[in-house]
Amino acid sequence: MSKTIAITNQKGGVGKTTLSVNLAAGLNKAGKKTLLVDVDAQGNASASVGLMIESGGKTIKDLMTRGGNPRDFITTVDSLEIIPANNSLKDMEEMLINNKSFDVLKKALAPITNDYNYIVLDCPPSINAFTKNALTMSEYIIIPVDVGYFSILGLKQLLEEIELERKSLNPSLSILGVLACKFDRRTSLSQQVFDTLKESFPEKLFKTTIRLSIDVVRSQIQHKSVFDYNPKSFVAQDFQQLIEEILNA
Ligand SMILES: Nc1ncnc2c1ncn2[C@@H]1O[C@H](COP(=O)(O)OP(=O)(O)OP(=O)(O)O)[C@@H](O)[C@H]1O
Ligand SMILES: [Mg+2]
Repeated sequence: MSKTIAITNQKGGVGKTTLSVNLAAGLNKAGKKTLLVDVDAQGNASASVGLMIESGGKTIKDLMTRGGNPRDFITTVDSLEIIPANNSLKDMEEMLINNKSFDVLKKALAPITNDYNYIVLDCPPSINAFTKNALTMSEYIIIPVDVGYFSILGLKQLLEEIELERKSLNPSLSILGVLACKFDRRTSLSQQVFDTLKESFPEKLFKTTIRLSIDVVRSQIQHKSVFDYNPKSFVAQDFQQLIEEILNA
């Protein structure tokens, strides 16, 4: 049975794309057949693995608008299968909102859903039509939060919004976990925010934290996952620990 996980937080820059790419790469390396789908018009997940798609043709927008066999829209990079996105995705946003079409992604990917152990969806930084499409087809959500001062305020609001979307779009959706990202061991703030998150969400907070690391940026510049860039780096070990936590959940 395939598990679809939407990586979502309406706050920008918290580490959604970094998590999506490395989670998909790590699950794949753990022997779980995994598909990464870029559902963000920024196309950051695609760029992160080196896909700068100019004119489209094989993007998630093409699949969602034209339909067809989803296998024809998959690109494989370093054994990671991805359906990429680019800026053209936003051209279909108005249509999706006007028609309240929030099951287009689910229907488009349906023919291949059961081919995978995991499908990871990198969502944009808002609960827009694409996030709603992602939530409609997902079994789980992971919410990455940066452990900064405002993250807790934003998280309460996000959880309320997700609960509303869950009721209207997909009652079987559940939160797999809240993940503390960009954790900085050099300051006490990260630990303080982590402790507060733990008090607020004792059941839902992943034990693993993803530490702040220059190796994340370096791996992205080289269009690699942290595992391919430097498997011994502490941030690769963080992602590995997260994957074990997910697989053992
Ligand atoms: N653990 C980390 N250590 C250092 N830098 C990180 C880490 N995680 C993410 N970053 C950096 O933070 C920035 C934002 O990360 P990312 O793009 O993953 O966030 P996002 O939530 O997907 O952003 P957006 O909301 O724009 O989609 C990037 O420049 C990325 O390289
Ligand atoms: Mg992103």
